[in-house]
Amino acid sequence: MPAKVITLTIDGRDVSAREDYTILDAAKEANVKIPTLCHLEGLCDVGACRLCMVEVKGIPKLLPACVTKVSEGMSVTTDSERLLHYRMTIVELMFSERNHICSVCVSNGHCELQAMAMRLGVDHMRVPYRYPTLPVDASHERFVLDHNRCILCTRCVRACDEIEGAHTWDVMGRGIDAKVITDMNEPWGKSESCTSCGKCVNVCPTGALFEKGRSVGEMVKRKAFLPYLTQMREGKK
Ligand code: SF4
Ligand code: SF4
Ligand code: FES
Repeated sequence: MPAKVITLTIDGRDVSAREDYTILDAAKEANVKIPTLCHLEGLCDVGACRLCMVEVKGIPKLLPACVTKVSEGMSVTTDSERLLHYRMTIVELMFSERNHICSVCVSNGHCELQAMAMRLGVDHMRVPYRYPTLPVDASHERFVLDHNRCILCTRCVRACDEIEGAHTWDVMGRGIDAKVITDMNEPWGKSESCTSCGKCVNVCPTGALFEKGRSVGEMVKRKAFLPYLTQMREGKK
């Protein structure tokens, strides 16, 4: 049975959407751009980064657009002083949590976190840096994992599991101790499940995953790869 179509307002504009849409889907169709980081077309949504938070009339707390379904008569605001304040704070916390030194990062100039900071106008930090001591795993013959750049978006985990079907990645620990791991927290190079397909590297929004031997100018994540992911997921939604 075809999905029912409902109506809602986004930023004061009447829009229609399928009842199984998320607010992000509906906004996208209405050409309204909501900031996102953990969301990636073709992968399931997990609501990890909270950048896509929006205001919904009658609900005091903010809701993540990528994992909140639309409903009849809903009134959504995607852009306000309050939302900008929280989005900027989230980006500042991401920068403060690990060691994102852009000038020595292979993704400098091609990083979605860096681009988001520029888009939101984050030009200084209001929270102290934590400067954690974090390892770099260069044991894989082709790829490197640098925990210093990881924002725990779990795109790598989902791409490896949902598209490649290898499920090499997972997240270990909670809160500030959380980190991505390969297999049972063994070095990536020792992983028996990894097929070396490179999907995780290409979906990583930062310089946390990169290819060995690539210079800053070369380490552009392959965008043509992403529509392929979407295609693979068709009909699964
Ligand atoms: S290279 Fe492919 S199989 Fe290996 S961890 Fe990345 S996505 Fe998974
Ligand atoms: S390694 Fe990259 S894709 Fe994976 S969780 Fe960290 S930032 Fe996201
Ligand atoms: S894009 Fe919605 S929580 Fe990250």
